[in-house]
Amino acid sequence: MNIAILGSGKGSNAEAIFAAIADGTLPATKVVALLSDVPDAGILQRGIRYGVTGTYIDAGPFRTKLDGPGEQRYLDALRAADADTIVLAGFMRIIKAGMLAAFPNRIVNIHPSLLPAFPGLNAWRQALDYGVRITGCTVHLVDAGTDTGPILDQMAVRVHDDDTAESLHARIQECEHTIYPAALQRLASGRLRLTGRRMIAVV
Ligand code: GRF
Repeated sequence: MNIAILGSGKGSNAEAIFAAIADGTLPATKVVALLSDVPDAGILQRGIRYGVTGTYIDAGPFRTKLDGPGEQRYLDALRAADADTIVLAGFMRIIKAGMLAAFPNRIVNIHPSLLPAFPGLNAWRQALDYGVRITGCTVHLVDAGTDTGPILDQMAVRVHDDDTAESLHARIQECEHTIYPAALQRLASGRLRLTGRRMIAVV
């Protein structure tokens, strides 16, 4: 699987994916591109130890979506890198029709809640404010909705009485670093079939 990792932030999930490839738990997967829409994003540095150079690509003036000429710039870079799977790791823009059509069911995202609860921004804070006792994280395919695509994997995290938004997010992120590489390995195995909304393993 030739993956392109796209992110806007510090890149801890990208780091976990690189580490899983390096330690052999994510074999047959190669990071062919590491792209960010934020020029000084930490994620751009995450490939250095693994021989992958991060590249900033201007995504255009609309801060919340990737479309128009910005989308085209990303598509050009992804094609040039021969990417077959797009891995969103904290990429803070909505993926629009052009990219979805270019990579059908091959765009994956990680979201910091147990979807379908708390889609959108700051999901850990939404969970804390709502008062749920269990939240977590979800790896899912990206479709045209916001955090609505078929689910690949989830992990639960208990909310503690003394949690702050920061402490809860930190524990969710630890789980993200476990399930994201594992879900990518299942995808790379080629033994998953989408049946309705369900990603079912075939033998
Ligand atoms: C993660 O919490 C992920 O769930 C969300 O964005 C954050 C990215 O963190 N989509 P990082 O940049 O991978 O550290």
